[in-house]
Amino acid sequence: MLKNLVLIGFMGTGKSTIGRQLSKTLGYPVIDTDTQIESNEDRPIADIFANEGEPHFRQLETQILQQLLTNNTHKHIISTGGGIITRPENLPLLRDLGFVIWLVAKPETILERTSRNKDRPLLNNKNPEDTVRNLLQQREPLYAQAAHLSLETTGLTFSEITTGIIESARYHYGNG
Ligand code: S3P
Repeated sequence: MLKNLVLIGFMGTGKSTIGRQLSKTLGYPVIDTDTQIESNEDRPIADIFANEGEPHFRQLETQILQQLLTNNTHKHIISTGGGIITRPENLPLLRDLGFVIWLVAKPETILERTSRNKDRPLLNNKNPEDTVRNLLQQREPLYAQAAHLSLETTGLTFSEITTGIIESARYHYGNG
């Protein structure tokens, strides 16, 4: 597989954990778009949302994807922020970067996982449950449009998810 494996999906669907596991198995380094933005800007995402607003953050996400393509990044695991699919121009960029995997989890699982920390500005409100359900509804068609593979993760172990992703990617590229 010469290209990258690109993980998309809602907050709390396990992109970072699965990304690390894929990295260990394949020996590809991980690039996390959130981490990259925080490091370029030298401040947390919550700060960017609070000071410049969400549209600015979305612009930074697009810039990262463009940069990765310009640098001809390959053989990496690219883990993305849950809202990266909200900018239509990002969809072809994601697919150009490699095999795009949409990690799917139930709203209950998402709520349980995301309630553990407060560093996600979009869920830092009085009713995160409504927010999750509304955003999921808005975003699902966009994830579906961007992804080569959608993977329902409920009931699967991290190792089963990782194996499934690698097998599908190999099949997709015709060397499985
Ligand atoms: C966001 C998801 C976050 C981060 C930012 C916005 C979103 O990433 O990019 O808080 O709009 O869903 P994770 O999906 O890694 O939590």
